[in-house]
Amino acid sequence: MSGAAGAKPLLRTVKGERLERPPIWIMRQAGRYLPEYRELRAKTTSFLDLCYTPALATEATLQPLRRFELDAAILFSDILVVPDALGQPVTVVAGEGPRLEPLTVGRIKTLKPEKVVAHLGVVLETLSRVEAALSPDKTLIGFCGSPWTVATYMIAGKGSPDQADAKLFAWREPEAFEHLIEVLVEASATYLIAQLEHGADVVQLFESWAANLDERAFARWVIEPNRKIIERVRAAIPDAPIIGFPRGAGAMFADFATMTGVSMLGLDTTTPARRADDLLPAGFGVQGNLDPLRLLAGGQQMEERAAEIIRALSGRPHIFNLGHGILPTTPVEHVSRLVEVVKGGR
Ligand code: CP3
Repeated sequence: MSGAAGAKPLLRTVKGERLERPPIWIMRQAGRYLPEYRELRAKTTSFLDLCYTPALATEATLQPLRRFELDAAILFSDILVVPDALGQPVTVVAGEGPRLEPLTVGRIKTLKPEKVVAHLGVVLETLSRVEAALSPDKTLIGFCGSPWTVATYMIAGKGSPDQADAKLFAWREPEAFEHLIEVLVEASATYLIAQLEHGADVVQLFESWAANLDERAFARWVIEPNRKIIERVRAAIPDAPIIGFPRGAGAMFADFATMTGVSMLGLDTTTPARRADDLLPAGFGVQGNLDPLRLLAGGQQMEERAAEIIRALSGRPHIFNLGHGILPTTPVEHVSRLVEVVKGGR
């Protein structure tokens, strides 16, 4: 971990302080809505090349901070570098998304969690480079995908709207699936510890596909693996600041917040801010949760909704963010305006 928390408003917020104005970062803030990112991306043959080339990934990480007064940089990488490092190669097909060869019961046994950190040494080098380049008031965020979310891609070989392949696999092949989740818990915990040792101030667990699970499956495949990762990270780094983002957790969001050990809860777009405020323990920090389409549309509706979110969450530590990732067709001026509004309309 780098620097003193005192100089970093966003880190202070994750650690439980309530600030006058919420600090802000934007999920997927480095990416295709930025012309300078598209230029950088055009210089590499594949998306993963960009992730695995520290000089270029450092540049992609810093680009949004040159343009906007954001309070944090998030490591430029992807949640799918973990399956890639485990020995299940990943490609990202333009216009379609990630592709992997779907896992079989036999292949699951060959995955090697102990190789992950060595394979991802280049990503850790990016973190060290960003840390060295970042001004001391900015927080550096590392991340990984949560086991269930990553497993949905590993089983289906791509993203899916309902995660049906992963659910069927989990119920038809419970032992193999349990083993896969344990491999991901081990790999993710080790990887997050390494990120915190290489300059990340905070790490976020992206549980992007927490929706569509019944309560028993949610407890077993979402809460329990995230809890185990956090327990293992904190065994190495006792006060590790960890944000959890269980997108689509619905009525389970408060259980996720209190049962996993996260320092702060990321709210998705559809979680009512006031309801979150009512249901979460006093002082429990939250992040979120403007609809990315409101940012894309811009104008008065965006500004009014941003102000409403800030008011609703003003009684607890709050980091302003979107309720999911920024969309590639978002106008950059809308992002500048949002940052201005959140910072107090300057
Ligand atoms: O700026 C940042 O937030 C850091 C970089 C980052 C990326 N992906 C870059 C990326 C982060 C934090 C992620 C997380 C991620 N990746 C998630 C969790 C967050 C979420 O959105 O729910 C998920 C589910 C993935 C998996 C993934 N990677 C998908 C579904 C896609 C294709 C969709 C898309 O946006 O194209 C990717 C590829 C990807 N990851 C791109 C970027 C910038 C686009 C690829 C390109 O530039 O060619």
